[in-house]
Amino acid sequence: MKIEITKIDKEKAWKLRHKVMWPDRSFDFIKLEDDDLGIHFGLFKENILISVISLFINNEEGQFRKFATLQQEQGKGYGSALLDFVITEAKYRGLKRIWCNARKNKVDFYKKFGLQVTNSNFIKGGKSYVIMEKDL
Ligand SMILES: CC(C)(COP(=O)(O)OP(=O)(O)OC[C@H]1O[C@@H](n2cnc3c(N)ncnc32)[C@H](O)[C@@H]1OP(=O)(O)O)[C@@H](O)C(=O)NCCC(=O)NCCS
Repeated sequence: MKIEITKIDKEKAWKLRHKVMWPDRSFDFIKLEDDDLGIHFGLFKENILISVISLFINNEEGQFRKFATLQQEQGKGYGSALLDFVITEAKYRGLKRIWCNARKNKVDFYKKFGLQVTNSNFIKGGKSYVIMEKDL
């Protein structure tokens, strides 16, 4: 099977974000003001985009956001491959730290990549989040 991870245009990331994360909201809802400044990555299986993630760099720190795998392709390791790629890319770019706002139900997933919970918690759109981070 052909698996490929590459940088993608923000428009491609938007499409998958919308489909996976907020299909019931308007298409504009999933766009971020910072998307022009982000680096967007996608994992393609047989040339079809099935997982996306976006990296935003500030002061030698990277935040990843809007991580999403097509529902029917979840739980097969594609998201892990993409996150591994982004962490390696962050190291390669000389970043000192990588972090994310993790949905609380994803904490154990991110721990597998060496991210640790901080004591910053918040609730947004009815969902609970915690900031997780990893020194690179
Ligand atoms: C979070 C998300 C991007 C992960 O993508 P994914 O492609 O499903 O990720 P993986 O398949 O690598 O890992 C998912 C789970 O499957 C497990 N897994 C990985 N490879 C596997 C395999 N070959 N066989 C069985 N299970 C596997 C992982 O260990 C992980 O388990 P866990 O959730 O219990 O920790 C995806 O679930 C998603 O899009 N969710 C909706 C949006 C969302 O919540 N985004 C994150 C916001 S913080």
